[in-house]
Amino acid sequence: MASPRAWRWSPDWRSPALGLRRGQAARPARTRSSRSSSAPSSGGSEEVVSASSGAPLVRVLDLRKSYVLGDVTVHALRGVTLAIESGAFVSVVGASGSGKSTFMNILGLLDRPTAGGYYLEGEDVSGFDKDRRAVLRNRKIGFVFQNFNLLPRTTALENVELPLLYNGRSTSAAQRHQKAQALLNTVGLTARAHHTPSQLSGGQQQRVAIARSLVAEPEILLADEPTGNLDSRTSIEIMEILQRLNREKGITVVLITHEHDIAEYGTRTIVFRDGRVIHDEPVARRRDAAAELAALPPPENEA
Ligand SMILES: Nc1ncnc2c1ncn2[C@@H]1O[C@H](COP(=O)(O)OP(=O)(O)OP(=O)(O)O)[C@@H](O)[C@H]1O
Ligand SMILES: [Mg+2]
Repeated sequence: MASPRAWRWSPDWRSPALGLRRGQAARPARTRSSRSSSAPSSGGSEEVVSASSGAPLVRVLDLRKSYVLGDVTVHALRGVTLAIESGAFVSVVGASGSGKSTFMNILGLLDRPTAGGYYLEGEDVSGFDKDRRAVLRNRKIGFVFQNFNLLPRTTALENVELPLLYNGRSTSAAQRHQKAQALLNTVGLTARAHHTPSQLSGGQQQRVAIARSLVAEPEILLADEPTGNLDSRTSIEIMEILQRLNREKGITVVLITHEHDIAEYGTRTIVFRDGRVIHDEPVARRRDAAAELAALPPPENEA
């Protein structure tokens, strides 16, 4: 991919209050499932309301994360406050070390903040222990990573089925198989179900990883540099899948990327610097991956 370009910001940008973009009223969360969530477990903030009364899918308040390494404390997040509505497609950008992955790890319940609040569908999850985080994570969050993270000697189908073994719901082998195959169809890999990762291209492996991230029907898809190892065309193909899932299935997407071009496939861009949000604004002209792919010549091996 092209090297990251300098960011340009519209002159009228202002710091948004609690993550709401300027002029945007808080709208009720579009919950895709009927799963209810409880009210916040701590008094926390008057901003926090229950999911049923329209809490955003995600709200973080003065989120902080520090790592202590011997005598040195690294302040990876220094007070992040924002909200993400259900159905959003948010791009998170910023220089290396600015705290993007740290933020994503907390959103994804892989890690806990040092201080601050994290409300998921209105429920305060910032104090959840490892086990409670794992249960919630397996039910609500799907992950896609730069390095695909597939099991190497396992077929695409089995890789996709795997999360269903851990999400605490009883799904029969036949149901798992059917669901995984349907998702492989969705990402255009119908004919590759029995291939192992080494028999697949990088783009195909990432598509398997996306199918795997969706199999437990998450509310949010967190993608950390999903196109970081892919060429330009393949990157657009991956973005076409993410845009389609967001538009058609209403899945909330949080995309971390170094690349200005890739961020423009989202509807809103949040920029981190030194553990803080320095910009948060709508994407002025959103890119449409499907339209771009249609305009490209066919790939050489299909021509
Ligand atoms: N487990 C850890 N232990 C100690 N320091 C950490 C740890 N994880 C991250 N950091 C530090 O926290 C800061 C933020 O790291 P983070 O990985 O969130 O950055 P990033 O924006 O994702 O960067 P990149 O674009 O390179 O992936 C960095 O200074 C990093 O060195
Ligand atoms: Mg990172």
